[in-house]
Amino acid sequence: MPKEKISISVIKRLPRYRRYLGELLKQNIAKISSKELAEMMKLTASQIRQDLNCFGGFGQQGYGYNVKALYDEISKILGLDKKYKTILIGAGNLGRALTLHFDFEDAGFELIGIFDANYKEIGDINGIKVYNMEELEKFCEINHPTVAILCIPKCNAKEVADLLIDCGIKGFWNFSQKEFALDNSDIAVENVHLSDSMMTLSYRVNEIMSKNSETDE
Ligand code: NAI
Repeated sequence: MPKEKISISVIKRLPRYRRYLGELLKQNIAKISSKELAEMMKLTASQIRQDLNCFGGFGQQGYGYNVKALYDEISKILGLDKKYKTILIGAGNLGRALTLHFDFEDAGFELIGIFDANYKEIGDINGIKVYNMEELEKFCEINHPTVAILCIPKCNAKEVADLLIDCGIKGFWNFSQKEFALDNSDIAVENVHLSDSMMTLSYRVNEIMSKNSETDE
């Protein structure tokens, strides 16, 4: 593990490195040079060397990177080897879609329960039991989940987050549109807005369209 703290901008790039390295592993590729990895990822070789040197490099002059070792180390740095126990709150459209289609295990999490305030939703989704919110505290006492995914309306998000913190939750994957940054530095929050990515796309399409209309003139 690295001795020095890695900057958040490097951390944000690690999942992408891991994804590409995972693809190489599937193709039984054991080593790769920074130049080859750079070409695949549309980055510069020096950016890759700079990023990967943050935690020991793993590269050898004239050999390149050991794909498996680098993949494992990145997984470890991201904490994916811990397989944090995770609960999902809100078994509506989004909660169901995530439970059915998101690969929690590959992302390094273990989904152990789903909670909803609405009795009509109770049952199970993809083999994961849906509990009523009234059972949350008891469930957490017994199972000690670390991470919670919030798929509930904005108006209830803060209240539910506070309850979850009391139940020992240390990290939130927050889809609720209620953006909260907690004062407590012992709790991590990732606010997710799919629309941010869509708006970035809009900006880029806009640029292409304006360029095309300039060349048409
Ligand atoms: P939905 O109405 O289908 O589901 C919400 C579920 O939350 C319902 O089953 C409801 O019973 C439950 N719920 C409400 N209050 C609760 C509470 N206090 N405790 C436990 N469960 C509670 O809504 P949908 O479509 O699944 O969306 C959920 C939220 O996610 C909405 O706030 C929506 O705006 C947001 N969203 C965010 C996206 C993003 O990119 N961040 C993308 C899509 C939706």
